[in-house]
Amino acid sequence: MKSIMFIAPPAAGKGTQAEMIANKYHIPHISTGDILREIAREDTEIGNYIYETMASGDLVKDEITYKLIENRLSLDDCKNGFIIDGFPRNYEQAVEYNKILERVNLKLGYVFVLDIDKKTLEKRITGRRVCEGCNAVYNINEESTTPHIESICDICGGKLYQRKDDNLESFRTRYQNYLEKTATVLKYYEHQNVTYHIDGNKSVEEVATQIDDIINKKGN
Ligand code: AP5
Repeated sequence: MKSIMFIAPPAAGKGTQAEMIANKYHIPHISTGDILREIAREDTEIGNYIYETMASGDLVKDEITYKLIENRLSLDDCKNGFIIDGFPRNYEQAVEYNKILERVNLKLGYVFVLDIDKKTLEKRITGRRVCEGCNAVYNINEESTTPHIESICDICGGKLYQRKDDNLESFRTRYQNYLEKTATVLKYYEHQNVTYHIDGNKSVEEVATQIDDIINKKGN
């Protein structure tokens, strides 16, 4: 069973790599950001709270994420493996994640850490465009991931939009949160010797190769 986690700052390429692994091994990609963005579309109290919080770059309340993660991991399609992206984000979430894994009878597995420069992140944040139809991700600051027709998805022809939190102001809060809160998660897993560091500054393919090499070497 392949159980894979990504820890990395905003726009480091977690989602991009997670999608590639999901397609390769036919396992689900569970992104707390994607799940929360879905809820943020609803005009409800919780939807509005999540929308505002995400736009500001702050983290949403832990309790909301716990339920989402446990419900998602309990589904049958996770039994053969899964990729978790965006969770845990702070020490409390990491501790709770252990308990959730125990309850749903799943294992922690690989913890991939994407190491990356801040300047590269700013370039990726400001250039990211997402398809409103199929959620495909592009980057207008990178030739290899620019859509063929401006603002149109190559895959489904849907319109591309810029995420509400993909601006330098929200980025500053998101990056600060990463340094202050997610760094404790990193330490927590470093102590358990389960982390694998990847150079996230490289191209999409080169990052994927580093990850593949580790998975192939371990063989599970
Ligand atoms: P979330 O959606 O998780 O955002 P994030 O962690 O900031 O990560 P991103 O989605 O921005 O980036 P990514 O690393 O997936 O990069 P991508 O592959 O798209 O969370 C958003 C918000 O939700 C949070 O701020 C918070 O409010 C809330 N939230 C989520 N989880 C939470 C939790 N557990 N607790 C509380 N709140 C939570 O790539 C980025 C761009 O770069 C793309 O354009 C891509 O095409 C390009 N790219 C990718 N890789 C490469 C490469 N190697 N070379 C060149 N370009 C590349």
